[in-house]
Amino acid sequence: MARSASSSSRPALEGGTPTRTEFLVFGKPRIGEEEIQEVAAALRSGWIGTGPRVQTFEREFLSYIGGSHVVAVSSCTAALHLSLLAAGVVPGDEVVVPAMTFVATASAVLHAGGTPVFADCDRSTFNVTAASVAAAITPRTRAVVPVHFAGLPCPMDAILGVAGRAKIRVVEDCAHCIEGTIGGRHAGTFGDFGAFSFYPTKNVTSIEGGMVVTGNAEAAERMRISRLHGLSRDAWKRFGGEGYRHYQAETLGYKYNMTDVQAAVGIHQLRRVARNLEVRERIWRRYDEAFRSLPIALPAPPGNGVRHARHLYTFLLDPDRLRVSRDTVLEAIQKEGIGVGVHYIAVPLHPYYRDRFGLREGMFPNAEYVSARTLSVPLTPYLDDQDVEDVIAAVTKVLLYYSR
Ligand SMILES: Cc1ncc(COP(=O)(O)O)c(C=O)c1O
Repeated sequence: MARSASSSSRPALEGGTPTRTEFLVFGKPRIGEEEIQEVAAALRSGWIGTGPRVQTFEREFLSYIGGSHVVAVSSCTAALHLSLLAAGVVPGDEVVVPAMTFVATASAVLHAGGTPVFADCDRSTFNVTAASVAAAITPRTRAVVPVHFAGLPCPMDAILGVAGRAKIRVVEDCAHCIEGTIGGRHAGTFGDFGAFSFYPTKNVTSIEGGMVVTGNAEAAERMRISRLHGLSRDAWKRFGGEGYRHYQAETLGYKYNMTDVQAAVGIHQLRRVARNLEVRERIWRRYDEAFRSLPIALPAPPGNGVRHARHLYTFLLDPDRLRVSRDTVLEAIQKEGIGVGVHYIAVPLHPYYRDRFGLREGMFPNAEYVSARTLSVPLTPYLDDQDVEDVIAAVTKVLLYYSR
């Protein structure tokens, strides 16, 4: 790998030498030979759409997560949409979502016909709290969508308590949290529905893809029909060797099915989930140790009995100890050859949500606080030891240079 022999103490942005010349892409997945072979086998089999590999992926995901029923779909956004419909969201209903999340958590509510109502986050965990959820509930609230941010499970006991008292449904957004557990039980199995993502940067990828986990057999069955145009179950089998079957549209459906080529990738990613978590845990410890004295707030550790899924290594810059903005720091680290991410600019600050719902700065002080300071550095099993040291060197160099 091409790297500069020495790096100057000035950031590349200011005319110094970059830490590395080959750009380290943020969120790059580790794709093994098994995935490549399985994709080739799926392509050669001729069955490239929804078929037996999707069923295998569903079975193995269910066995890993430990819920009752799973439904593979085309994305987490689709999983959230179908879950909200199954939770009974209809026009006029409100759904409580975090202000600090990716826009898909809120857009899924709109797709289901509901209205997102934002709950502020905790400044150190970035998760919603039972109190912030309770404050957003009104007589029109139908459901709440806690997001297990960066892989740190939300306080589900307290949130379920609030939801139970308000008689509302709980849809867990587990896009960041495949491995996360509370008391040994997986995130996604506490609420009525759990929605998972297999987007390229996620802890398990199928390139694009999602999964619903639920204890509700009837809802799962309806989702299997809704995910493929509302056609009668197993319509995908009509071209197989078991004899032609006429399909029937039983309901208004969507084009939310997962393909066997995607599942081929997902199956082998999932089989490596524990090993990949160990790699990210090791990188996490190394970052914690290396970044401790920098002008940042490190990610919050999980509480007792909680397993963190280690999806995003997200820290907060301390503006009182820096002489430049977050975006200057971000650009300088990128110029050092290290890709970074911003998770996230709070949803109420995006023009569409701000204008449509009349939201103003100051309404979600903690989410706004995080939005202005947050930065994430690479954390995937793709990284080798040298990559990790390069990330540390670049972040340290930039933050020391811009320290007050
Ligand atoms: C918190 C959260 N929810 C939902 C999604 C949507 O996932 P997908 O891209 O699989 O639809 C994402 C994607 O990054 C996310 O981070």
